Amino acid sequence: MGNMITENGKTFYLRGKNYAYVMCVGKAEYLQHLYYGAAIRESDAVYLAEKVGSAQDALCADGGRDVCTNELWSEYPSYGRGDYHEPCVLIRRGDGAVMSRFRYLSYKIEKGAPNVEGLPHARAGDETLTVALKDDFSATEIYLHYIVRESSDVLVRYAEIRNTGREAVSLCRAFSFALDLPDHKFSLLRLHGNPTAERTPELSPLGHGVTKLQSLRGASSHQTNPFAALLGESVSEMAGECYGVQLLYSGSWSITAEVSNNDTLRLQGGINDTAFNWKLNAGETFVTPQVALSYSSEGLGGLSRGYADFLRECVIDPKRVLVERPVLVNNWEATYFDFSYEKLFPIIDEAANLGIDTFVLDDGWFGKRNWDDSSLGDWFLNTEKLPQGLTPLIERCKKNELKFGLWFEPEMISENSELYRAHPDWAIGKSGQLSIRGRHQLTLDFTRKEVVDYVFEAMRNILGENEISYVKWDMNRSMSEFYSNDLPAERQGEFTHRYILGVYDLAERLTTAFPDVFFEGCASGGGRFDAGMLYYFPQIWTSDNTDAYDRARIQWGTSYCYPVSAMSCHVSACPNHQTGRTIPFSTRGAIASLGATGYELDLSKLSDEEKHAVKEQIISYKKIQSLILNGDLFRLSNPFETDLFCEMLVSKDKSQAYVVCERLRAQPNGYKKDCFVRLFGLDEQKLYRIEESGITASGSVLVHFGVPVPHLYEYESFCWHIREMTT
Ligand code: GLA
Repeated sequence: MGNMITENGKTFYLRGKNYAYVMCVGKAEYLQHLYYGAAIRESDAVYLAEKVGSAQDALCADGGRDVCTNELWSEYPSYGRGDYHEPCVLIRRGDGAVMSRFRYLSYKIEKGAPNVEGLPHARAGDETLTVALKDDFSATEIYLHYIVRESSDVLVRYAEIRNTGREAVSLCRAFSFALDLPDHKFSLLRLHGNPTAERTPELSPLGHGVTKLQSLRGASSHQTNPFAALLGESVSEMAGECYGVQLLYSGSWSITAEVSNNDTLRLQGGINDTAFNWKLNAGETFVTPQVALSYSSEGLGGLSRGYADFLRECVIDPKRVLVERPVLVNNWEATYFDFSYEKLFPIIDEAANLGIDTFVLDDGWFGKRNWDDSSLGDWFLNTEKLPQGLTPLIERCKKNELKFGLWFEPEMISENSELYRAHPDWAIGKSGQLSIRGRHQLTLDFTRKEVVDYVFEAMRNILGENEISYVKWDMNRSMSEFYSNDLPAERQGEFTHRYILGVYDLAERLTTAFPDVFFEGCASGGGRFDAGMLYYFPQIWTSDNTDAYDRARIQWGTSYCYPVSAMSCHVSACPNHQTGRTIPFSTRGAIASLGATGYELDLSKLSDEEKHAVKEQIISYKKIQSLILNGDLFRLSNPFETDLFCEMLVSKDKSQAYVVCERLRAQPNGYKKDCFVRLFGLDEQKLYRIEESGITASGSVLVHFGVPVPHLYEYESFCWHIREMTT
């Protein structure tokens, strides 16, 4: 028996690792949701169809004439036919009418996962169920796709909307999914934030009405991450039921949770529909972004580990995902814009001495860029600053056996640039009307193919002419003036989605043209940290805030739905440039080791002791590469709730683990509850040794009782390498 069964094509049962998802087609031919949660048996699907499906039928179908559908748990609710929740899809026809009645048409089950051109998508799946619905009032069909993997708790969904008629319709809303749950007694977990305080977890009860998480910034944003989780009562890191929603999308988005007057809960989301209006001509199909739904009965930790596996196995480029991450040094905080060969050579030389393998030249190498107010778009060398171009730097790196990386901000344009002087209409916003500047810059109109082509050529020249093995792709402003000087009036409502399709197009072309280049995403720190960007770039700069106190929290929040291999984490100088705080070098290294590690300071100015520490950190880091790339993360002590941050990575076979602990606030003379940490995630049957302390103990005592935390002063930390003892 596969993962999907249908009873006469009317009941659908999907089964992943630990969950089941059930739907049926009721008497009135609506596609009804019946169940999503812990695994139940296939035969239970029939029971649910009889008990739940028929009860809903009775409420909304009256002898074939349909009445109000408000009580129906719908798989893809539409507008204007008596369902008074927020709809998932809203279609305006040529005559202005907006009511639809989508009813069941057919289904098919196919092996694998569909290839969705132009959009990030799950690259792997065992089977895909597609259920087709047809509108009774217009020539519109909807294809709902469900991608299932037997070994995963993630269920991927998306929709295709097809205009099979003769005249155009307008999509005013086209979300990726809806999920009706019978119970609303959940808390909603969101990751809100700001530049330098990304992905801060916040838990709140769900009241009646609509709770909306969203970005209207043209990017997934620092403000809220396109992720939400529903936590049942008493969910902990290791136990309890929870659901996750994660959009594979990087543009303006929304996720809503609506508690109805009947106390049911509808969750839905996708492209933000504020000002959205997509003209769908006869014969055309619109494809929504994908959403990764997840169910965990093993608490929030289980949910996170499921998402980390899903992203590594199905989303991130398989050619790059398990590639050993370059340990790099980036010159940004060392020099900012003020660099020269003379300033950079000592950093490169020192990097080689210390065991670093890549040098990255950040902002300021192009056009006449000496400050952040010029030259974006002019992707040719700043020969005033670097008279012989990049060659002397690359040669210096080669001599030292280092690789070379380069920063770009492909989507932006400075008014003070040759590009703007030649093509002022390539900036978004209506020509002749004043646009808002962000960091003195405007955004390039990536809805226009010629603009994307231009940037591709410019970057291809630089990457083709120089030996570059790493690219940092930055994006440093929220968008405004969502308007293209190229799109016709009736297509301006397509702007934000078309923009992000342009970004995906460029990312696809570059990563394909340069298969050996390693790409890192960035957006004023972690302002576009999402599964959509991870499809193209295996890692993303987590935050400009590298203060190891704040960073521990930022990385903790980020790990709720992203693997540590996706988080780029650097050691920087103190007093920290963002917070002014001073934290021991060892702690900065410990926190940065929980991700794709690197350094962001002037290595040539380090003390001998610090240089020694860098060498040791890199040796230690190389030992845990496989855990960073593919380990399971266990969050052991919550920095938002206690004075101790503690996380552990465990290998899949549980033979190796790595623990990092940081004291966030000193506890003089205190014997407090966080004096012990329980090492969840170890195998209870195995015997382990902690290399640094020499402690040997069974997995069961380490899991159920824990290990004493050594005394630490404020901001001090320790790292433990743990290995299974073999007899
Ligand atoms: C952003 C990035 C930084 C740095 C600067 C350069 O702020 O987050 O890491 O690259 O841009 O301008």
